[in-house]
Amino acid sequence: MKKLWIVANWKSNKTEAEAKNWLQEFSIFIRQSADQFSNKEVIICPPFTLLPLLKPYIINQKFSLKIGAQDISPFDEGSYTGEINGKQIKEFADDVIIGHSERQKYFGEDQEIISQKVAQAQKNHLMPILCVQDEKTLIPEPATIVVYEPISAIGTGRPDTPENADQIAKNIKEKSKVLYVLYGGSVTSGNVSKFTQMPNLDGVLVGAASLIAKEFAEIIKNA
Ligand code: PGA
Repeated sequence: MKKLWIVANWKSNKTEAEAKNWLQEFSIFIRQSADQFSNKEVIICPPFTLLPLLKPYIINQKFSLKIGAQDISPFDEGSYTGEINGKQIKEFADDVIIGHSERQKYFGEDQEIISQKVAQAQKNHLMPILCVQDEKTLIPEPATIVVYEPISAIGTGRPDTPENADQIAKNIKEKSKVLYVLYGGSVTSGNVSKFTQMPNLDGVLVGAASLIAKEFAEIIKNA
């Protein structure tokens, strides 16, 4: 059975109270079906404000669940108003999403900044989960996990075909040292298995559907 990565990207959603409700609901499901986690690495990426809430929750759980951040400063600590640096993130998380297309669209992130962020992740022993929109994107080393996320599929309810996503994953693996390629874009509990059963895909990154605890739990179950 291949190893699967299931990443929840909460984006800019959830207050503390909403996150507590989600965790409570999610725990109920997980307790009932912890065995379904055996080959699955589940990483929850909440907004920065919720990292301190999730950390003790994860520690107290019996199953393996990891926390990731959604972004990282391209700089070390210092005078960079509003930025959260790798050393700060490492206190709470082991993984970090880098280069999401929404960061490029709304915050003007370019390839150079993305490369700096990957380097900061490495320096602080955080695993970068690098998002790319196509197979032509330059992949800075040492990216171990890449998420193929076509823009037309993000938040639209129109996922790519599993066959095309698989072909792109294959191409990415052939031309880089990337070990795992995930698919992201309108993944639901109804379509997740079509992606995870493809030979070159190693999991999924889930946006909107991860905001509902039951739906995210179903995604893990069906993956
Ligand atoms: P979506 O988002 O699942 O809501 O389409 C995916 C993503 O942006 O990573």
